[in-house]
Amino acid sequence: MTVRSSLTIVLAAGEGTRMQSSMPKVLHPLAGQSLLAHVLDAAPHGADAALAVVIGPQHEAVAAEVKRVRPDAATVVQGERLGTAHAVLAARDAIARGADDLLVVFGDTPLISAATFQRLRAALEEGASLAVLGFRAADPTGYGRLLVKGSRLAAIREEGDATAEERAIRLCNAGVMAFDGRKALAMIEKIGSSNSKGEYYLTDVVGIVRDLGLEAVVIETSEDEVRGINTKAQLAEAEKVMQARLRKAALEAGVTMIAPDTVYLAADTRFGKDVTIEPFVVIGPGVAISDGAVIHSFSHIVQSSIGKNASVGPYARLRPGASLGDGARVGNFVEIKAATLEPGVKVNHLSYIGDAHVGSNANIGAGTITCNYDGFGKHKTEIGQGAFIGTNSSLVAPVKIGSRAYIGSGSVITRDVPEDALALERSEQTNREGGAKRYREMKTRGKPPKAG
Ligand code: UD1
Ligand code: CA
Repeated sequence: MTVRSSLTIVLAAGEGTRMQSSMPKVLHPLAGQSLLAHVLDAAPHGADAALAVVIGPQHEAVAAEVKRVRPDAATVVQGERLGTAHAVLAARDAIARGADDLLVVFGDTPLISAATFQRLRAALEEGASLAVLGFRAADPTGYGRLLVKGSRLAAIREEGDATAEERAIRLCNAGVMAFDGRKALAMIEKIGSSNSKGEYYLTDVVGIVRDLGLEAVVIETSEDEVRGINTKAQLAEAEKVMQARLRKAALEAGVTMIAPDTVYLAADTRFGKDVTIEPFVVIGPGVAISDGAVIHSFSHIVQSSIGKNASVGPYARLRPGASLGDGARVGNFVEIKAATLEPGVKVNHLSYIGDAHVGSNANIGAGTITCNYDGFGKHKTEIGQGAFIGTNSSLVAPVKIGSRAYIGSGSVITRDVPEDALALERSEQTNREGGAKRYREMKTRGKPPKAG
């Protein structure tokens, strides 16, 4: 089979004003990734797959996101918003290079899958000049309706131009189209703007294809896959669909979750074998969980890696840069940030470990805090392997605790501690014999004894 070359054009010039946000619409996150990143990930990849993203003027943040996710993509600016066909032509130079398949997709339909692009391309391979992705809408209001004759697509009618009869049609245009890439430019350039909005509608290409005696077909998919995001409510709906997909995939990959509906995953979460995630866990972007690790309830994890057979939580927080070695244990009410815990480290209760390196098998007692910030800069704490940090210790960074050193409970450590040393930093204890009794007598003199 010969490999067909493709050009995918992603239209992302939308303002997204209905999101009530100062952030461009396509940068809103869904399962920890921007809407745009989802679309860019689903679009064809590889040496034969070119990509162009059409953005609005002053959308530097969108351009930066494109560069981050798909450094191979070109961004082109649509100076004026004159319609979807006009937006596609902003990428005219790329189209003129003539790929076998030209794919057009909107930046705000993040649930689209790579398999669907393949289905549209297969229709081109079978001889169609245009393949349009369609779906049966529960409520078709606002969508372009697909007018079909037999298996052929006759026209796409936008809501504003549709007759009452046409508006009753539930088969709608999802907005994703695949064109014969050699003919696409000539066809799209013929599109005019004689409709109720005076815009250049990409959907009008159907009539042009038909006038040329070429074939236009509809490929159907589920409504869930083509949900467009215009509002925060639709964003939440899409998140629901995406989370259901991610949970299903995780379960199929062998992750144990007894209450998957309460677990939030990110699109890029990676799991080893025999991972267990207890109820009510939130996982943000950039998390890798290795074989046999257990994430206990109510933990919140972002940009972290968790070693084999490690244990996290309940109620643990792993912030960006937390790296847990094999068999490490991070217990309840522990926060880890930008810190490496080598294998076998235990931080079981009520601690903050930030900007630190902790050697293998070190034991960090309850309530230990790395004082990493002095109000001006962040400083590093190094804890050697096998060190024992007594409970309620403050380690004032920058500071180094040697291997196998022992820190007495309640110490405030400001100077480096050598290997195998015992460091104590607290005043000596004094016991006054009978002192408690005398104190009680002083407080109760002349008062009747209390009941109980
Ligand atoms: C469009 C389709 C409609 C389809 C629906 C599916 C057209 C004419 N209509 O309608 O048939 O059912 O999507 O969601 O194509 N954009 C630009 N520049 C422009 C105009 C639009 O980049 O000048 C981008 C937008 O950012 C958006 C996409 O194109 O991502 C669709 O534009 P929008 O105005 O939302 O089209 P709809 O009216 O939703
Ligand atoms: Ca839209």
